[in-house]
Parts: sequence; structure tokens; C-alpha cells
Amino acid sequence: MKALVYHGPGKKALENRPMPRIEQPTDAIVGITKTTICGTDLHILKGDVPSCGPGRILGHEGVGIIVETGAGVTGFKKDDSVLISCISSCGKCEYCRKGMYSHCTTGGWILGNVIDGTQAEYVRIPHADTSLYKIPAGADEEALVLLSDILPTGFECGVLNGKVQPGSTVAIVGAGPIGLAALLTAQFYSPAAVIMVDLDDSRLATARQFGATATVNSTDGKAAEAILKLTEGRGADTVIEAVGIPTTFELCEEIVAPGGVIANVGVHGTSTALHLERLWDRNITITTRLVDTVSTAMLLKTVQSGKLDPTRLITHRFKLDAILEAYETFAHAADTKALKVIIKAS
Ligand SMILES: NC(=O)c1ccc[n+]([C@@H]2O[C@H](COP(=O)([O-])OP(=O)(O)OC[C@H]3O[C@@H](n4cnc5c(N)ncnc54)[C@H](O)[C@@H]3O)[C@@H](O)[C@H]2O)c1
Ligand SMILES: [Zn+2]
Ligand SMILES: [Zn+2]
Repeated sequence: MKALVYHGPGKKALENRPMPRIEQPTDAIVGITKTTICGTDLHILKGDVPSCGPGRILGHEGVGIIVETGAGVTGFKKDDSVLISCISSCGKCEYCRKGMYSHCTTGGWILGNVIDGTQAEYVRIPHADTSLYKIPAGADEEALVLLSDILPTGFECGVLNGKVQPGSTVAIVGAGPIGLAALLTAQFYSPAAVIMVDLDDSRLATARQFGATATVNSTDGKAAEAILKLTEGRGADTVIEAVGIPTTFELCEEIVAPGGVIANVGVHGTSTALHLERLWDRNITITTRLVDTVSTAMLLKTVQSGKLDPTRLITHRFKLDAILEAYETFAHAADTKALKVIIKAS
């Protein structure tokens, strides 16, 4: 089968690889119909994710059709259409019993990281019963690809952890797919204002189309002043960090309102200064989270009912044969205006 294989920092290739096989009775083999590329795949290619070694098939998002199930799989059968969660979970360990699937002792974020992933014609899904979702008849497969990772991530790590409330003020730093997913799902709670911050005017224009009430281009280094002005000096009740670098986290520290929350979503590779000398008396909360995908079933219903339309995030489509071109397009988003690229594998 064809697969996109990581060969160490900066190196990847589309190759022929053997079909995955059932290894545990709880596994399923899924024939991928559609997959996509995540900002985290780019982090892997930069060498930022040491758990992912050379020879690994990348990808942790996708939809497909089951071709085989292990003897222990009871909830799914051959030919079922399924959505693959980026988080695999056994449903039984201490963390899974708390709903913290991201820390499952035999799962978590393993796909396209420590086991082969979804940017291929077929993938082995461990703990299939508790890591796959049935796709309802008539559902838009492309919309569902965005439920594997980015919508649950924006919602759980950003909106839920950030405690977005009706009438509140939200600031989202980073208008990439994750920041925009947080923007779309924050609107479930009717905040009075959502301010988006980015360096890229075209992403900020998209954010305004998606419901941002104000946007701030932070290129001039004066974003904190602009946001304080927009909020009459108070700052934002919820500040969502969706970039993953020290500058943007420190901006969040400057713009959080008294009593507010900084909800970190970004994957950070270096340390960041925590300005407790300014923050100690501001009654704030700082949260971090690896997405648990506990909200996937709920988000699926909001998509099915038409309340949420994630297909607005899809900008490009490629065949699996052209996945290297898809990576180029996704990696140069400022020029190509790419948000999410859909890759058709069959
Ligand atoms: N916590 C989790 O479970 C989880 C899951 C998935 C992704 N992530 C992380 O979320 C982050 C966002 O993901 P994405 O796919 O949207 O990434 P992305 O790279 O597509 O988007 C990041 C955005 O930040 C903007 N940006 C960069 N530097 C900036 C600055 N100094 N000021 C303002 N904006 C700036 C970029 O222009 C871009 O629009 C990444 O760090 C990713 O690894 C976390
Ligand atoms: Zn991802
Ligand atoms: Zn578990």
C-alpha cells in the first residue's frame, strides 16, 4: 500500500509499505478514504517530537471503511464507515475511567507518532471499540475528518478549559486551524466579543468571516495595547493560546482580565517566562491539556444538525499520490492561504 513515511528531521517520502495486520484482538484495520495534515505533523518533520522515529507512517486524522476486525472487537464490523479519533483509548485504565483518554496507559496520542498512522491506504487502529466512531448515513465525510483532532482540540483545550461564558470576552492568539476551531466552537456559548490575533492578515480576514468581532495583527509588537484598548483596559476573560511559542504565551499573560483564564493549546518546545510579579494578585487560572477527544460524539451531533460547519476550514484537496504537494501547500500557508487540506486515499 502507499504511505507517507517520516525519515528523520526534514525528510519524508511516499512509499510502498506492507498492509497493516491485526496484532491484538481489539484492533481493526481501516481502509482510509480521506485524511489530512496537522500542524503537529510539521512539528514532527522539524524534529520537535522525539517519540516519533524514522520509518513511521505519519497522520492521526481520517475517515475510512473497516476491512477487518480482531476477534475482540464487538462494536464494529467489516464495511462500517468510521471516524478515527487522533487519541486511542482502552476505556479501562485509570486515566480512561476519568475521561482523560489522552493519557491512556496503552493509547493516547500514538497514531502517526509511536505507531503507524493514517496518511496511507490502510491503518491499524488499536482499541477499535473505544477509538472509532460510526459515521451516520449521509454524513459529509470531509467535515468529519476535522472531528479527528482540530475541532475537539479547539473546543476542549481552548473553549472548555477557558470557561467561555455568555457575554464574556474571548481573545484567541493564533488563527490557524486550531485557533479557528476554537473560534467556531466558542460561539456555542455566545461570548459578547471574540478578538483574534495573528501575523497573517488573510487568516484574520477568515476569522472575521467565522465570527470574530475584532482582529489584531500582532506584527508591530503592540497587540497587548490594542486588545486592552478594545476591552476598556480590562483584558479578556478567556485567553486561548493557539500558537505554541514564548512570545504568544507572554502576550496571553498581558491580556488576561482579572479572574480570567489562560487556556494553553499550543505545543511548546521551549520554556516561557511566567510573570508572577504581575499576575499573583489577578485571580487568574492557567490551564494546559492534550486533547482527550471526549467531545467527539457531541461535536458530531452539532455538525449533523447543521449548527457547526467545519468544512469552512477546508481550502485544498489532493489525492494520496500528490501528498508531497499537499505538504508543501500546507507548510507554506502564508503564500497558499491553506487551512486544512483534504487528502483522498481511495
Ligand atoms: N494541545 C493539543 O492537544 C494540541 C492538539 C493539536 C495541535 N496543537 C497545537 O496547537 C497549535 C496550533 O495548531 P495549528 O494547526 O493551528 O498551527 P498553525 O501553525 O497552522 O497556526 C498557528 C498560527 O499562529 C500564527 N502565529 C505564529 N506566530 C505568531 C505570533 N508571534 N503572533 C501571533 N500569531 C502567530 C501563525 O500565523 C498561524 O496562523 C500548534 O502548536 C499545534 O501543535 C495542540
Ligand atoms: Zn493534530
Ligand atoms: Zn486507557
